[in-house]
Amino acid sequence: MNKNAKTADPALHGHPDLVASITEEIRASGPITFARFMELALYHPRFGYYSRLETRADADADTPGGIGEDRIGWGGDYFTSSDVHPVLAQALARQVRQMDDLLGRPDLLTVIEMGAGKGTLAHDFLTACAKESGGVFDRLRYMIIERSPAMQAAQRATLVPWLGQSGRVAWVSKLDELSAGSLVGVLFSNELVDAFPVHRLRIEQDEPKEVYVDCQGGRFCERIWPISTPALKEYLRRLDLSLPEGYNTEVNLEALAWMKGVARVLGRGFVITIDYGHTARDLYGPDRQRGTLLCYYHHLVSEDPYTRVGLQDMTAHVDFTSLAAVGEESGLHVTGFTNQMSFLMGFGVEQLLESLEPGSAEFQSVVQLLRPEGMGRTFKVLIQHKGVTEPQLDGLRFRPFFGEALSQNAMENHG
Ligand SMILES: C[S@@+](CC[C@H](N)C(=O)[O-])C[C@H]1O[C@@H](n2cnc3c(N)ncnc32)[C@H](O)[C@@H]1O
Repeated sequence: MNKNAKTADPALHGHPDLVASITEEIRASGPITFARFMELALYHPRFGYYSRLETRADADADTPGGIGEDRIGWGGDYFTSSDVHPVLAQALARQVRQMDDLLGRPDLLTVIEMGAGKGTLAHDFLTACAKESGGVFDRLRYMIIERSPAMQAAQRATLVPWLGQSGRVAWVSKLDELSAGSLVGVLFSNELVDAFPVHRLRIEQDEPKEVYVDCQGGRFCERIWPISTPALKEYLRRLDLSLPEGYNTEVNLEALAWMKGVARVLGRGFVITIDYGHTARDLYGPDRQRGTLLCYYHHLVSEDPYTRVGLQDMTAHVDFTSLAAVGEESGLHVTGFTNQMSFLMGFGVEQLLESLEPGSAEFQSVVQLLRPEGMGRTFKVLIQHKGVTEPQLDGLRFRPFFGEALSQNAMENHG
């Protein structure tokens, strides 16, 4: 044994079984697209970040928490709005109530949350609905579409109070399991689309080239090769983008397929998509030459997806222009586009702040969701509808200027 040999830090490289599995795939079939790498890192059926059943608590007795908590939340790698304060869930409950009125109060109102993480938003949403007498609760069926069995287990644990109520909460693992036009109600998601695997592109000699992942000397490394599918060039062409030499960015093709799937399932109702993101003009603008891919591990942010593979989260900001355009093509009309701060203002978040002790922990939490330089503005809210005529929604009462930019872009570039 060489006493001077440095032992590789397994956490730095990643989950050993996952790293072995990805390395094996590369050995067998050659370098893989970054999108495939991200798919395996996050969703490999056994060892992916979201699929893994083992928790940090299994490895370290001092780390508290189950499957959900050890990834999402203050004890995990990153937090979402739902971890900060229930006010977003409460606003969504009020928005859904208004949508229910616009749908004529159907006998059964289905609310689907897709990608529910550890189930906090679902918990707070159901709590808010249950508190309102004469609201939607008696007619409400809450369905979660969650691809990871491990996250489903975490959601079941969070939603224990409702599990005994017949037909109240149900799970499916894929949108495809629902039949066309079957949804009358609302489908919402918070930080789902930014968790889809993305293709990474680099402009070289005026052409988009793609990032592939190879393995050399026991470490992952990148190769820049011709794009793996013409869909990537088509995506950029439709946005009429001219990206400069050396520009790095991401394209989320899965987001487009998802939007088409949502349009297929929705018979009548609304889609609410909340996520980190921008209009295409902003996302693919000069301020983001390095792209937006980020990794989160114990609340540390890094741009290196090749360390802690399977042990850290990865996300990329969402192109809302393309989502809206594909939605329009598939029969979903844009009701409006705003940011989290404006959405919450539509439900009187200022009054909530006035009722709280300034400087108290709760006051600070609500402010955190509203901060213009943080969650308040980076998080956008896209609402789409089908089978409802020109709905006016409280969540869209305050629209910053870019709200119009989205629909103009969508019309200019996508007919
Ligand atoms: C960032 S977390 C969402 C957090 C949660 N919505 C919240 O507010 O705290 C992303 C979730 O989406 C799930 N997910 C990712 N892709 C999915 C897909 N195609 N279908 C269903 N769930 C998916 C992940 O397993 C994970 O539970």
